[in-house]
Amino acid sequence: MNKKRAGFATRMGAIAATVGSAVGLGNIWRFPYEAGENGGGAFIIVYIACVALLGIPVMLSEFIIGRSTHSNMKGALKQLAPKSNIFHMAYICIMGAVMVLSFYSVVCGWVVEYLFQAVSGNLTNHTPQQYSEMFNNFVGSPWKLVAWTLLFLVVNFAVLLRGVEKGIERISSILMPLLFFILIVFCINSLTLPGAKEGLAFMFSPDFSQLNWRCVVDAFGQAFMSLSLGVACLVTYASYFNDETSLTKDAVVVAALDTLVAILAGIVIFPAVFSFGMQPEAGPKLVFEILPSVFQQMAGGYIWAVLFFILLLFASLTSTISLSEIFISFLMEEHQLSRQKAIWASASIVVVLAVLCALSFNVLSSVKLFGMNLFDLFNYLSSNVFMLLGGLFTAVFVGWFLDRRIVAEQLTNRGRLNVPVMHYLMICLRYIAPVAVVFIFLQLVGLI
Ligand code: PHE
Repeated sequence: MNKKRAGFATRMGAIAATVGSAVGLGNIWRFPYEAGENGGGAFIIVYIACVALLGIPVMLSEFIIGRSTHSNMKGALKQLAPKSNIFHMAYICIMGAVMVLSFYSVVCGWVVEYLFQAVSGNLTNHTPQQYSEMFNNFVGSPWKLVAWTLLFLVVNFAVLLRGVEKGIERISSILMPLLFFILIVFCINSLTLPGAKEGLAFMFSPDFSQLNWRCVVDAFGQAFMSLSLGVACLVTYASYFNDETSLTKDAVVVAALDTLVAILAGIVIFPAVFSFGMQPEAGPKLVFEILPSVFQQMAGGYIWAVLFFILLLFASLTSTISLSEIFISFLMEEHQLSRQKAIWASASIVVVLAVLCALSFNVLSSVKLFGMNLFDLFNYLSSNVFMLLGGLFTAVFVGWFLDRRIVAEQLTNRGRLNVPVMHYLMICLRYIAPVAVVFIFLQLVGLI
């Protein structure tokens, strides 16, 4: 029986879905706050260098594994290295993805709450202190937090039930252009604010005295998170690419668009922050605590608040869809479950873990492992351990073990394209990426 495997119908659909995976809370919430804490301009330059020198090659290595096998991560490794046990690495990637999904959906729950508050007009008449209290009260209330997290997950898995072409591709093709449109409108608005000059100077005139290893490590981690690397997400999506897609072009387009969205988000946020005398170093709470007071002081604040949280929700949804698909495709292909059953099985695991993460802000806040609550632990482990290990693995696997002919075939679409990047790609995957990842890893765990 040769059942036709699902796939993205068009090249644009494939790009939209991949950009949809990359663009998420990482760009709109995390990037501005990381840049804010690391001094702005200098961080942004290092970040762009990380994306170009390491992010794109590691992304290409995931694309090569996925598209050459048209299979989930475990199946792909079994095909490419049939005599070895290397396929076990797939479990690390899947665990990483499930972990990201579990804590990420709690933050998505925050976005749902804030959208709700924005629509009810509660984000336009309070002081910054009240917004801060509002945030703390919200995460301190278990029922609300769990309810919004679950609501988000229901929507997420409902889209996935509609399948690859109908669900993921369609929703991404609509949401991604809409996201760009809303962001551009926001940028124009921010550029008319009185603090625009200061905000732009903060972002674009680098202060190299701020540059240190911490900044490089943060930029590296941010690039991995933002480009969805290291959890087999791009292996899974590339397995739905058709054979005409140019992997190199798509990797460059996806990385460029992802970076563009992050920078646009910065252009939206920093002028506003400076105009209203706020602090760029506000940290992870920036979006949730400070922006409401920023919206409040803008003309048409109600509408801006609603639009902003809709945008954030869309961006998060296309990322969680891609995170879920990793586990689903694994269950379908390796355990012969129907798509529906695979969705139910993965949803049950994610729901339990996400609820535990949500409860770690309130009822379970005293339960700590390595000094962290479950949410922080998942956040830390997934980005700092699992994604780095997964990225290191794919780089080393493609760089050192995979047959060069497969790499060349995939890069050139069996000789039909002229892509003279093989040499650079190999240097990067064999030497630069492993050394950089090991260095970052040792920094993060505090060994150097
Ligand atoms: N890249 C997504 C973001 O920036 C998060 C993500 C990580 C998605 C890993 C898929 C896989 O928000």
